[in-house]
Amino acid sequence: MKINVLTLFPDMFTPLQTSMLGRGLEDNKWQLNLVNFRDFTSDVHHHVDDSPYGGGAGMVLQIMPIKKALASLKNKGKVIITAPQGKIFNQKVAQNWSHEENLTFICGHYEGFDQRVYDMADEVVSIGDYVLTGGELPTMSMIDATVRLIPGILGNAASPVDESFAQGLLEYPQYTRPEEFEGMKVPEVLVSGNHQKIAEWRRKEALRVTYLKRPDLLQNYEFTDREKKMLAEIKQEEDRT
Ligand code: ADE
Repeated sequence: MKINVLTLFPDMFTPLQTSMLGRGLEDNKWQLNLVNFRDFTSDVHHHVDDSPYGGGAGMVLQIMPIKKALASLKNKGKVIITAPQGKIFNQKVAQNWSHEENLTFICGHYEGFDQRVYDMADEVVSIGDYVLTGGELPTMSMIDATVRLIPGILGNAASPVDESFAQGLLEYPQYTRPEEFEGMKVPEVLVSGNHQKIAEWRRKEALRVTYLKRPDLLQNYEFTDREKKMLAEIKQEEDRT
């Protein structure tokens, strides 16, 4: 997958070139093309913004440099603008995007875009109901969530399957050595070596965490008969405590 990012701050993108994603770049499992749309201005001062028609405080990002930067790309794929007014990004979106050959993100900074910039986007996406200084951090979050789902990026191929949201539930609790720490023991079943029981326990605990912390996720969850029984047990157990 090749990801293009149109930004005024390409230097901000080092986190994506570190750790697992950085190794993926080195191994050519994905490519990151950072494009500074200031390079596509035609005036001597390289302005990318201007004052708003109708007056008012602040500046507005102009359409021309962004349009030209987009036109310079060979393969744009889906064009995404990150903005608080977009639809909320989630794991499902990341899963869909992880199958794309190309993606192009357009990041604003400080100010809003000229409204006509939105016409160049296939999707407008937000990472939550709060406002950041620019689209760079949201873009990095979305790229991280997407690229880590590309096969071969994470060391253990199975890890994105069990994690939170992957199957509509939060992830079950995990433990590692020591088996007992300050009186707190690892659940016995996990050291039993019985893989079927472990799988059952994990599914039930995933249901329990979701029921306790994000019950809204269960509204759209398709329960198997076994899981329906598990949830009934969980409700009884939790009501008792
Ligand atoms: N730009 C500024 N705030 C944002 C948000 N919450 N999501 C996406 N892009 C943004």
